[in-house]
Amino acid sequence: MKISIVAVNSVNGLISRDSDYDVDWSSPDDRKFFKKITTSAGVVIFGRRTFETIGKPLPKRLNVILTRTPEKFHSTENLLFTNDEPEILISKIGRLGFKHIVIGGGREIYTLFLKNKLVTDIYLSIEPIILKGKVTMLNVEELNNDIRLELEELLKLSKNTLVVHYTIPENRVRELFSP
Ligand SMILES: NC(=O)c1ccc[n+]([C@@H]2O[C@H](COP(=O)([O-])OP(=O)(O)OC[C@H]3O[C@@H](n4cnc5c(N)ncnc54)[C@H](OP(=O)(O)O)[C@@H]3O)[C@@H](O)[C@H]2O)c1
Repeated sequence: MKISIVAVNSVNGLISRDSDYDVDWSSPDDRKFFKKITTSAGVVIFGRRTFETIGKPLPKRLNVILTRTPEKFHSTENLLFTNDEPEILISKIGRLGFKHIVIGGGREIYTLFLKNKLVTDIYLSIEPIILKGKVTMLNVEELNNDIRLELEELLKLSKNTLVVHYTIPENRVRELFSP
C-alpha cells in the first residue's frame, strides 16, 4: 500500500491563505497533476474544512471526508463521511482493493496521518508565489519527532512549477498490511 500526501506549497511554505479559503493560486499544471494522481489512486482523503472549500466530491474517485460528526452529513456512492481512526480507515480502504491512497489535506489531516506514521510518500508542488496568508502545511507541534525523508524524484511540470517527490522510509504502513 502506498499512502501519499499531495500538497501544493507557496515559496514561503504556505498551503492556503486561511482555513476557509480554497487554493485559488495554484497553476493549471498543478491542478492537472493533482487530478492525474488522485484519479490513478482512485481514492482521496480530505478534512471536512478542505472538502467545504471544494464544495463537491471529485468525480471518478472515492472521496473520504474526515469529520468528528459524520452523522451530520449524507454519504453517497463516492462520498463517505467518517470519524474512523486513521489506521482503521486505511485498513478499510485497503480491503476495498485500493493500492494507493492520496491524503489531500488540509493541514490537520496531513498532520494526523504523518503523526500516526501512515504516510509513505509526499508529493510537494512548489508554485512561484509568496503568498499573503497563514496556513502552513503542518502543525509540527503535534509531531513527536523529526521525520526523515528521501528524495525520490523531481518533476518539472512546466516552466514555473516543480513537484518534489519524497519517500518516508520510517512508516507503519507495511506492518499494517502484512498478513
Ligand atoms: N495547498 C494545498 O495543497 C491544500 C490542500 C488541501 C487543503 N488546503 C487548504 O487547507 C485549509 C484547510 O485545512 P485545515 O487544517 O483548516 O482543515 P482540514 O484538515 O481540511 O479539516 C479539518 C477538519 O477535519 C476533521 N478532523 C480533523 N481531525 C480529525 C480526526 N482525528 N477525526 C475525525 N475528523 C477529524 C474536523 O472536522 P469537523 O470540524 O467536521 O469535526 C476538522 O475540523 C483550506 O484553506 C484548504 O484550502 C490546501
